[in-house]
Amino acid sequence: MKNKNTLATIALAFFSATACLAQSEAESRQLTLLANKPGADIASTMYGIFFEDINYGADGGLYAEMVKNRSFEFPQPFMGWKAIGKVSLATENPAFERNPHYVTLLDPGHREKRTCLENEGFFGMGLKNGMGYNFSVYARLHGNGSKASLRIDVINSKNGIVETKNIDITGSEWKKYTLNFTSNVTDAHGKLRLFHNSGDGIDLDHVSMFPADSWNGLRADLVKALEDLRPGVFRFPGGCIVEGTDLATRYQWKNSVGDVENRPLNENRWNCTFPHRLSPDYYQSYGLGFYEFFLLSEKIGSEPLPILSVGLACQFQNDDNAKGVHAAVDELQPFIQDALDLIEFANGGTDTKWGALRAKMGHPASFNLKYIGIGNEQWGPLYPERLEPFLKAIRKAYPDMKVVGSAGPSASGDKFDYGWKEMRRLKADLVDEHYYMNPKWFLDNAARYDNYDRKGPKVFAGEYACHAEHQPNSFEAALCEAAFMTGLERNADVVRMATYAPLFAHVDGWQWRPDLIWFDNLQSVRTPSYYVQQLYGTKRGTNVLRLTENGKALTGQDGLYASAVLDKTAGKYIVKIANTADKAQSVTINFKGVKSLAAGKLTTLHADLKAENKVGEEPVVTPVEGVAPAVEASKAVLTVPSSTFAVYEWSK
Ligand code: AHR
Repeated sequence: MKNKNTLATIALAFFSATACLAQSEAESRQLTLLANKPGADIASTMYGIFFEDINYGADGGLYAEMVKNRSFEFPQPFMGWKAIGKVSLATENPAFERNPHYVTLLDPGHREKRTCLENEGFFGMGLKNGMGYNFSVYARLHGNGSKASLRIDVINSKNGIVETKNIDITGSEWKKYTLNFTSNVTDAHGKLRLFHNSGDGIDLDHVSMFPADSWNGLRADLVKALEDLRPGVFRFPGGCIVEGTDLATRYQWKNSVGDVENRPLNENRWNCTFPHRLSPDYYQSYGLGFYEFFLLSEKIGSEPLPILSVGLACQFQNDDNAKGVHAAVDELQPFIQDALDLIEFANGGTDTKWGALRAKMGHPASFNLKYIGIGNEQWGPLYPERLEPFLKAIRKAYPDMKVVGSAGPSASGDKFDYGWKEMRRLKADLVDEHYYMNPKWFLDNAARYDNYDRKGPKVFAGEYACHAEHQPNSFEAALCEAAFMTGLERNADVVRMATYAPLFAHVDGWQWRPDLIWFDNLQSVRTPSYYVQQLYGTKRGTNVLRLTENGKALTGQDGLYASAVLDKTAGKYIVKIANTADKAQSVTINFKGVKSLAAGKLTTLHADLKAENKVGEEPVVTPVEGVAPAVEASKAVLTVPSSTFAVYEWSK
């Protein structure tokens, strides 16, 4: 009896399972994948990163220098410092001619008094237990002094000494002195103190401290986060920072190369832009300069894409018709020369002026620069009339260089249409589009590129991010980006580059959000949007595959978005599906030209729409790995959970 019951139960279970399968297949959306017809190639540059020194992305962020205003060049020369006792500022006979200010510390005149300088770092200094810190300072004896000693203390946030060391200052010539500290605490808000310890006066300049694990002066965890994205292209140094609030404060790459000590300070365009996020101590030391950007491109395997000023100061911050604000067309020669010289710096032989500097800095081999952008987010007739002479000069000297032009600040409208028309006329190679839009826009625009002109310039989606109001870095924003990006992928023949923006933000110092990676002085966190970028970047494929339902791409039918690629090198089919609906959906992929494939890999990103990953907390949105169902009889039946971005991979 018992056995009979068991058999009946098994039979019933089998029957219901088969019925369910039949039913679910019947209800499953039927998609056709032309697996045997690889389409357009996907550019290696397709998914990349956009770097700008905004949100303390460089100084205070990726650039691992811990001392703020290390050269005393801020317009308020003691900003970032507390000066106690006999401290004064001087410029006579400086150590560095382009950063001429330095300080003099004199004997306080009493054994219970102090002459001291204290640096607050960038929202403090991050100290990690067991980590080494490399301190350095340029110093000389002041005046006719014969002997002096400098004491250096690393301080924790409770005003206790972590470690203290002394340096004997000898001679009246500027010399670099170095010390190593090791921290025995973990503290995000350390400080540094320099005391006049004994003897004669001391002149000091370029006070610096880096964590011992930094890579070419860059913060190790942030470099790793970039590497893990596998970005195909690396756009730098911005953003509006390229243009500057005025031309004098535009990013000038020539000031960002050579010895770091002699790179002149520049204002940061984001220091006082937003009164509600004022950052008056935000300057660019250029310690992270163009040489370091090129080195980093190499390290993370990206094509470098420098963007240079077209001679227009930030158009958001200046009237187009204001007199003397923008360079006139007949004043552009130095700007054009900057572009030509940059190409020489990156690629020129070591017998050329700028190639020789690159070699002297440690990289005799060419950086093999292939792309250059002229102008950031420019609009109106001012732009094409300036871009044109750049294009002529660059094309004459470097016919293979691909030049990126701008389509202005918005995703559509008069400025955008005019920009595109002009870029077509001038035959820009790529056109940089910017869109910071809401979730609905991202979902509605998944088919944006389906009907783009295939004959004109290619698209560089150079700045984009979904701005979900009140939940800037939520999973909802990331899911909408994932859905939208199926449209980038499907149109990889016309979209050749796409970079989310901005990249970095310090939790204590941001001006703009959302951002891809947040950090404090000790750690960083990868946002849900980061993981979307990573899934696209690491599973890019080599060729687009046509994936349709009833002959149409999935661009939001019942909240589903999908695209597919072939990875010829890895021998893989990769299908990406974003289900933005609040219900799970069954999808059957009907493979044309493939009968069977073993079960593959599934990577999903799923969370509450409001979920965010926060610095210092366990991340709640991370990719989860599973199994992609086998392909049998040319079919794979998939269930895509609600609010999920899923990536399926099958090996041939
Ligand atoms: O990414 C932040 C800013 O947005 C960029 O600097 C600018 O190009 C755009 O307006």
